[in-house]
Amino acid sequence: MKDKIEQIKMEFEEKIKGKSLKEIKELETYFIGRKGKVTELFKMLKTLPKMQRREFGAEINELKQFIEKNISEQVATLERKEKIRKLKEESIDVTLPGIKLHTGNLHILSQTILEVEKIFLSMGFDVMVGPEIEKDYYNFEALNIPEFHPARDMQDTFYLAKKILLRTQTSPIQIHAMEKYKPPIRIIAVGRCYRRDAVDSSHFPIFHQVEGLVVDRKVTFANLKGTLAEFTREMFGKDVKVRFTPSYFPFVEPGAETSITCVLCGGKGCPVCKYTGWLEMGGSGMVHPNVLRGVGIDPEVYQGFAFGWGIERIAMIKYRIPDIRMFYQNDLRFLKQFKG
Ligand code: DAH
Repeated sequence: MKDKIEQIKMEFEEKIKGKSLKEIKELETYFIGRKGKVTELFKMLKTLPKMQRREFGAEINELKQFIEKNISEQVATLERKEKIRKLKEESIDVTLPGIKLHTGNLHILSQTILEVEKIFLSMGFDVMVGPEIEKDYYNFEALNIPEFHPARDMQDTFYLAKKILLRTQTSPIQIHAMEKYKPPIRIIAVGRCYRRDAVDSSHFPIFHQVEGLVVDRKVTFANLKGTLAEFTREMFGKDVKVRFTPSYFPFVEPGAETSITCVLCGGKGCPVCKYTGWLEMGGSGMVHPNVLRGVGIDPEVYQGFAFGWGIERIAMIKYRIPDIRMFYQNDLRFLKQFKG
């Protein structure tokens, strides 16, 4: 019996070495499980004389405790090791470079519009909007362009129904402004316009304009000039000048085409300004008495000035963008250059 106990102890000591958690559980069953080796020894006790039972009983118990203690110690060590391994494996290296998040940016036209609005707001203008789908009345009629007026041919129009169209200009917002507010009026309005133009580097069927309108007593052409000169300096730089050349728009009298000093050559002449030293920005003038009368404003008491400049034109000049189509192609290589 003594030998058997010794032998089992040695076998256990041999077998426990380098075992995994799972193997230890198996060893546990093998030695002290219900049919385990040590349990067998307890069974054998019964066959021994009473004196020996006592002695060996104590020894087998000791062996059982020895095995139990060893197993629980071993399990604890292995579990600790496993925990450390897991912690190491799952730890985060905070020194690794992070994954860069892609951030979007406003489209360059949106940026330009915000900048234009900011400048005019700082000059005391309010910002207005108007509908893109217009009645013929607002887009033409009320702007002193009656039916069959040749000026209608200046703007090839998308008609949606009889007398309903996509506005060809932001000028109809002038009429909305004068219907809605009493003078003094000082507004700008930026918006999309539509024309059935053939596409080339400076024409696109959709484009944007900024419309300006001031109506008050004693408004003069000098006020128009000062306003656009100030806007131009803010937008393009203090050395850039505005030039007015006589032109015809039915809703203003006198009317003027407005140009600014070519920002590329500083006015000396280059291919971009076609050697004139000037870049055309849009139209302007003193609001026609017919237009004022049409909305119930007495032209003997009030005068107004108005202007309409192209937003794409402003952005193309300011950011040296050679082709209007670039705004609408959504090529990320182009758009990403204007992270604002
Ligand atoms: N609406 C005109 C166009 O698109 C531009 C324009 C000219 C606007 C004269 C004005 C103006 O307000 O006074 O061609």
